[in-house]
Amino acid sequence: MIKVLFVCLGNICRSPMAEFVLKQMVAEKGLADNFEIDSAATESYNEMCRAGIHHGTRQMLKSMHVPFEEHYSRRIRPHDYAYFDYILAMDDSNIEDIQSLVGLDTEHKIYRLLDFTDHPRNIKDPWYTRNFDETYWDIVEGCQAFLEYLNNKSE
Ligand code: 4NP
Repeated sequence: MIKVLFVCLGNICRSPMAEFVLKQMVAEKGLADNFEIDSAATESYNEMCRAGIHHGTRQMLKSMHVPFEEHYSRRIRPHDYAYFDYILAMDDSNIEDIQSLVGLDTEHKIYRLLDFTDHPRNIKDPWYTRNFDETYWDIVEGCQAFLEYLNNKSE
């Protein structure tokens, strides 16, 4: 079982999108039972009102026929670092925030999702850019590259 936690600032736009994109990819490969996939925030402001998935992310997932369930934002906890095998962040500031919440990455579990690609970069926050389309394609690129990385690692 490979346990993956996607992390972004608010856990309502990027990380839930990545959670459901990767769930769909592994399901299509018949590998769903080999993975546990979840998502979390570095900030807690949305936890107070149990914010659901942003409508821009919902619309994008619906238009690309990516199945998703209800998801409520939650903040990453120190326990998550011990539990998950991969903590996949969207940008550099997520990485700094994760480390301040869970401690140093002594087990080398924390990555930026697009660091698995040939063009390592941040995934911009659509909360600010409003460009959920760009976010979706960045996430697809990152998840495909992450699965290739796992595949190469197991060979
Ligand atoms: P996310 O986007 O980190 O991709 O979920 C944001 C969601 C909410 C806020 C900021 C970014 N916010 O300020 O509430």
